[in-house]
Amino acid sequence: VKRSKKPVKRASQILLVNISQLLTLRCGEGDSSARRLAQLKDLDIIESAAVLCVGGKIVSVGTTKDALRDPWLKKNRKKIIQIDCAGKVVLPGFVDSHTHPVFVNPRLIDFEKRIEGASYEEIAAAGGGIRSSVDGVRQAGKSALTAKVSNVLHDMAALGTTTVEAKSGYGLTVESELKSLEAIRLAASRWPGTVVPTLLGAHVVPKEFQGRSQKYVEIVCKEMIPAVARRKLARFVDVFCDKGAFSAVETEQIFEAAARHGLGVRAHMGQLSQTRLAPFLRFNPASFDHMDHVHDDDVAELAKRNTVATLVPGANYFLGLKEYPAARKLIDAGVPVALATDYNPGTSPTISMPMAMSLACTQMKMSPAEAIAAATINGAWALGLADRKGSIEAGKDADLAIFAVGDYREIAYWFGANRCAMTVMNGVISGTP
Ligand code: NIG
Ligand code: FE
Repeated sequence: VKRSKKPVKRASQILLVNISQLLTLRCGEGDSSARRLAQLKDLDIIESAAVLCVGGKIVSVGTTKDALRDPWLKKNRKKIIQIDCAGKVVLPGFVDSHTHPVFVNPRLIDFEKRIEGASYEEIAAAGGGIRSSVDGVRQAGKSALTAKVSNVLHDMAALGTTTVEAKSGYGLTVESELKSLEAIRLAASRWPGTVVPTLLGAHVVPKEFQGRSQKYVEIVCKEMIPAVARRKLARFVDVFCDKGAFSAVETEQIFEAAARHGLGVRAHMGQLSQTRLAPFLRFNPASFDHMDHVHDDDVAELAKRNTVATLVPGANYFLGLKEYPAARKLIDAGVPVALATDYNPGTSPTISMPMAMSLACTQMKMSPAEAIAAATINGAWALGLADRKGSIEAGKDADLAIFAVGDYREIAYWFGANRCAMTVMNGVISGTP
């Protein structure tokens, strides 16, 4: 998203010193794609570290001793905000590469029904699920939706997230999908972090098109996508490709329309059932998300490509599932894996990247180091932003999370608590160290 011309606060000159562990996630020579295999756990940690940010960018990264000897720093000392990070971990701000923040109400009836034993699909078939969030969004004004998104972005930053992918998908008419994306754009312009908007007009077939999904797909392809592209309201088009949502053939049609209009593609894939991936690969999707069900041959194919597998274990947790995506199998086969919250009212009402990381460790057997890289640099790859986000290196955007823990493994360890003390977003400080 283009950030508003008026920044929230002027980006300042910030020097973080005495950092116990600085997780730089610096990219190796010739890194040209998301982290895989052993690279995924390479955090490139500097102890007693310092980071200097000027004008919203990272300018230098090294030890505190070296930083304090720097002549430019010595001369400009008075103008620089210095922050003591003794006993703290500093890492790249989290990149939450999959969220659905534009909705009005929580889905408490679905929540209770599931506790009583109904499945996600049964609830959806009985009129709950995604469709039950649609009326709220269609009736809401743009400013009410903007306020919802703004609040969520603010709360996410308090947990260490500095870049957010935000999907529409609960309006399901041209007008209310545009309204949802406009709410995302407005909220983004008032937040110092970075927002990547995605059109998810193909979330589910709305009830007025029940039994006529092809007609709805036509509206998505011929009206929604062109209107969104014309107004530059989204960078990606997403499709929920699964039983009860859109078929592989429909997904291909929607991807074609997105590509024709210069938008990137991504998809909810393999959440409830397996879909073979071959028909979509020619579109080079930025990511396939969920991936609970995936064919072995497709795992091998993805290992050769740059499409990221974005895992969202919050959804498995909240639906009370015993099975989680096979992260170990994907990682060990060489597939680049990212982690995201999937913040939404139906399957994953959490904004916490540390919670997603904790689930990744305990339920999917990812190591704490792998979880960190999946939540930062690989999220950035999944959004096409790895040149600016996801690692702490000179030249990148000044997006940092400061955690009040002495060891990075504690971030996923203290689940359900917030240890994030402060974030820096494009050079703007939020919170107190
Ligand atoms: O990522 N699977 C599709 N979309 C969401 C669920 C949305 C909802 O239930 O409201 C997901 O799980
Ligand atoms: Fe989702």
